[in-house]
Amino acid sequence: MIIAIDGPAGSGKSTISKLIAENLGITYLDTGAMYRLFTLKLLKEKVLLTDKDKINKFLENLDIDITNDRFYLDGENVSEEIRKTDISENVSKVAAIKEVREKMVDLQRKFSKSQDVIMDGRDIGTVVFPNADIKIFLVADLKERAERRYKEIIEKGQKVSFDEIYENIVNRDNLDSTREITPLRKAEDAIEIDTTGKSIEKVKNEILEICRNRNKL
Ligand code: CDP
Repeated sequence: MIIAIDGPAGSGKSTISKLIAENLGITYLDTGAMYRLFTLKLLKEKVLLTDKDKINKFLENLDIDITNDRFYLDGENVSEEIRKTDISENVSKVAAIKEVREKMVDLQRKFSKSQDVIMDGRDIGTVVFPNADIKIFLVADLKERAERRYKEIIEKGQKVSFDEIYENIVNRDNLDSTREITPLRKAEDAIEIDTTGKSIEKVKNEILEICRNRNKL
């Protein structure tokens, strides 16, 4: 079984996906984290985003690993680093590079070969798994999405301003939905859920209900 959850930043994808995975006893893959890990690699190595040769070389030797809630780059746990501002500010530019997307999509498809999965991202229902069993597209008001993300980051003890977060979300929404290759969009057969003002519990239950109904068919 494959469940695809897509939507813009702060729409609730990862929180909800984790809960659904727990509830159904399946594996969750945060595909955004894969793009964040590679962005960290390029920043660490000071690679220009126009340097295709170097980018291809690093893609060939990519060493990333995701285990539960921990994210590893070259064997090092970088779970906190990949959520920081410099990564958020660059990840959408990295994710717009064709070769990067091809590599990540390939890894994502391989990941699902041996197990039932719920994957969240921007192109899961449209490109990675056009035949996913269930496709959900989560949306929410921009202000609420920025507030959620702000709260999340402040709770982790990082220093950021609300305006900085708001601006980053606007920029990423814009880059992600206008990029040439596989932009963020709702698959035609995806079910859209607006999570504005809704509790996590309510959204989780709505999706679980959709899963139950599908299984009855
Ligand atoms: O969690 P948040 O919504 O902040 O974003 P994320 O899921 O961590 O994804 C970070 C960035 O990776 C997005 O803004 C996209 O540019 C890119 N991404 C993508 O292009 N395709 C995916 N399947 C997942 C993420």
